[in-house]
Amino acid sequence: NEGSLWGARFASGPSPELAALSKSTHFDWQLAHYDLFGSSAHAKALASAGYLTEIELADMLAALDTLRGLLDDGTLVAQDSDEDVHGALERELIVVAGAELGGKLRAGRSRNDQIATLVRLYLLDHAAVIGHRVVQLIDAIAAQADAHPDAAMPGRTHLQHAQPVLLAHHLLAHAWPLVRDLERLRDWRVRASTSPYGSGALAGSSLGLDPALVAAELGLSGPAENSIDATASRDVVAEFAFIAAQLGIDLSRFAEEIILWNTREFDFVQLDDAYSTGSSIMPQKKNPDIAELARGKSGRLIGNLTGLLATLKGLPLAYNRDLQEDKEPVFDSVETLEVLLPAFTGMVATLRFNTERMAELAPQGFSLATDVADWLVRQRLPFREAHEVSGSLVRFCEENGLDLHEPTDEQYHAISPHLTAGVRDVLTVEGSLASRDGIGGTAPVRVAEQLAALTARVRAL
Ligand code: ARG
Repeated sequence: NEGSLWGARFASGPSPELAALSKSTHFDWQLAHYDLFGSSAHAKALASAGYLTEIELADMLAALDTLRGLLDDGTLVAQDSDEDVHGALERELIVVAGAELGGKLRAGRSRNDQIATLVRLYLLDHAAVIGHRVVQLIDAIAAQADAHPDAAMPGRTHLQHAQPVLLAHHLLAHAWPLVRDLERLRDWRVRASTSPYGSGALAGSSLGLDPALVAAELGLSGPAENSIDATASRDVVAEFAFIAAQLGIDLSRFAEEIILWNTREFDFVQLDDAYSTGSSIMPQKKNPDIAELARGKSGRLIGNLTGLLATLKGLPLAYNRDLQEDKEPVFDSVETLEVLLPAFTGMVATLRFNTERMAELAPQGFSLATDVADWLVRQRLPFREAHEVSGSLVRFCEENGLDLHEPTDEQYHAISPHLTAGVRDVLTVEGSLASRDGIGGTAPVRVAEQLAALTARVRAL
């Protein structure tokens, strides 16, 4: 069982069945560069504690550099006998640096503190990439809002016409959750930046190595306070998976609307040819596949989170091999978002809105009935009564096939003496929109402020 990281105590090597089950090189190879990065930092800690001479340190760092080159040009690959990336890289280090020097690197560290650190380094890098792509999506939404400052649309609750809103207001309602996701990533980063390196297998190192030095070398904020916690916990990974799932949900909600808006019945948007697909049998089709994939992949992102949480539940301290199962789901979440976000952004940036149709539908379905009630309140009628008067007006109009502004003055009076001709002033979409001018409301002045605030908040991140 020579060459393995733990062979001496064993009379035989692992059975082929165990080796097949245990192997993780097909996914943890993605951490190879982070492993070498950690090893360089660890070599410096060994040297500073007197376990490597200056010359040995220089040779070790040079050997690790050689391994980087071999990784990059594809000559260093996992072999069948390798269990994981850590073992494979030590095997190769010994080839490059010799058994004596190469055999010194493992002192005072364990794969347990290594892997806990490397997965953080990987996630921190990819969180930056994902964050950047979310900013690009927010910018695309903001640009669409900016390009349609006055367009009205039917605002809905329960998917029913409720009150008219600005298209820009509705679009920005999809941007704010993404801003909060960015802020979540920023907050997560603080917790993710603690370094487990130096925790050893679970109890810490007895060699006087300085974990703070390793953390600083790795660009992390400092060493973990508790070596058992540092090697046994994956809440930082789960939290990342949650943010990825929440991002997926936020994309999916927007996607669902784009799918609806793109139907013949709604006819609110047209998708750009470059961001929609055709059918192999129906020549006329133009399908919103990006939006559908976003909706579908959100399920996958949620699955990655729940699978990981189920893995973590009930694990005793400290490291357990179950923890190896943290990587595939979270790697998949990263890869999923990294391909989904740019496509989604392209689709949003190139959406064409049928603003005429949206505006035409905005007042339909008696969506100005609340404006009638609010007008009556401004005439000092109690809202309860105002609601009833407005409701009676809706019923009258529905029965007579009229819009709210169409009954005669006499008909208004018959419904309620409080209903006078003046109410017609608020029975326009523009009037309704302009009147909702409280902070956060859909009035064009407010939405313009909101857009500026959103942009500033994203730039401040
Ligand atoms: N490959 C393992 C993981 O991903 C790290 C190795 C720890 N293995 C061990 N037997 N202690 O979590």
